[in-house]
Amino acid sequence: MTIHELTTPAALVDTTRMTRNIQTMQQRMNYLGVAFRPHVKTTKCIAIAQAQIAAGAKGITVSTLKEAEQFFAAGINDILYAVGMVAPKLNQAAALIQRGCALKIIADSVESASAIMAYSEAHKLTFEVWIEIDTDGHRSGVKPASEELITIGHILNRHKRTLGGVMTHAGSSYDLNTPAALQILAEQERSLCVLAASRLRATGLPCPNVSIGSTPTALSAQQLEDVTEVRAGVYVFYDLVMSNVGVCSVNDIALSVLTTVIGHQVDKGWAIVDAGWMAMSRDRGTQKQSNDYGYGQVCDASGRVIEGYQLIAANQEHGILSQVKPDNDQVITARFPVGTQLRILPNHACATGAQFPSYHPINDQQVISPAWDRFYGW
Ligand SMILES: Cc1ncc(COP(=O)(O)O)c(C=O)c1O
Repeated sequence: MTIHELTTPAALVDTTRMTRNIQTMQQRMNYLGVAFRPHVKTTKCIAIAQAQIAAGAKGITVSTLKEAEQFFAAGINDILYAVGMVAPKLNQAAALIQRGCALKIIADSVESASAIMAYSEAHKLTFEVWIEIDTDGHRSGVKPASEELITIGHILNRHKRTLGGVMTHAGSSYDLNTPAALQILAEQERSLCVLAASRLRATGLPCPNVSIGSTPTALSAQQLEDVTEVRAGVYVFYDLVMSNVGVCSVNDIALSVLTTVIGHQVDKGWAIVDAGWMAMSRDRGTQKQSNDYGYGQVCDASGRVIEGYQLIAANQEHGILSQVKPDNDQVITARFPVGTQLRILPNHACATGAQFPSYHPINDQQVISPAWDRFYGW
């Protein structure tokens, strides 16, 4: 099958690029001497998670219990659910554990830890819980030097085998764009998570796992002493945000949206395509970065970047393709005739992927293999 037989818009995955991204990250983790637990929320796709595991990943990270259920059903057992646990979700988590899933959950508050322990005692079921540490102030987690960390540790340690470790995600790495700044944040993420582990151990609490990571910090860390594992997600596809952060090139981006030119506004220098925000997502993550790519970078049907052209605007099902610096491009109709297929690189691969029910793997010869399903929902 070739791309001309696909109905557009469609999500394409360049398998050569994706395989290279998977291998390069895994080799880096092997070199740094840590286990690698990819975050599969980027793809929510069993075929891709299996490729990550075949390359050497140990377990996966998920962002929803639905993902945990789907990946467990596909035979993946070692799963970290990396979103703070609350009482109403404990039944769903418990059901997975009772079916044999080695599920780990996380907590970053006394309330969450107490709810887990109350459920555990009432149902005679042991959860493995990792404490979430805030190492960069960007989102959730307890401060590594706080008393609350020790209090949570003691609550969880009411039962042996419950306190399984600490984890952190330095998501503020997305705001950086120099190797020096990324290296400093990577070391901050490592050292503060290690500090949290040391403080727990110093009070006699167990802390076997020290789990850190985001794509930019995973690729910038110079050493990972006392870390047991790293997590990264978006590296598998990369995207324009990551290219602006400086951890990949535009030519590493494995996910694109295949679209078709459906019309023009010649006086405005526009080609109208059938990929609007329903296909690209509303994510404008590059807006505050050094290169604003609008709703995506335009490439030809084979994936070659067409410099200077972007999706400058998006309605639900219409995308407006134009030169970034318009120079009364009267040749837009000649350059992009109606029916032309193009590929658009996304700002944020996790958000764009989430718009589609499946991915179409495409190789260097432009041959499409059978689609890979992805799932969604909670
Ligand atoms: C808890 C957690 N770990 C790891 C990651 C992976 O980060 P990235 O996609 O930058 O690799 C994320 C992403 O949001 C996350 O929330």
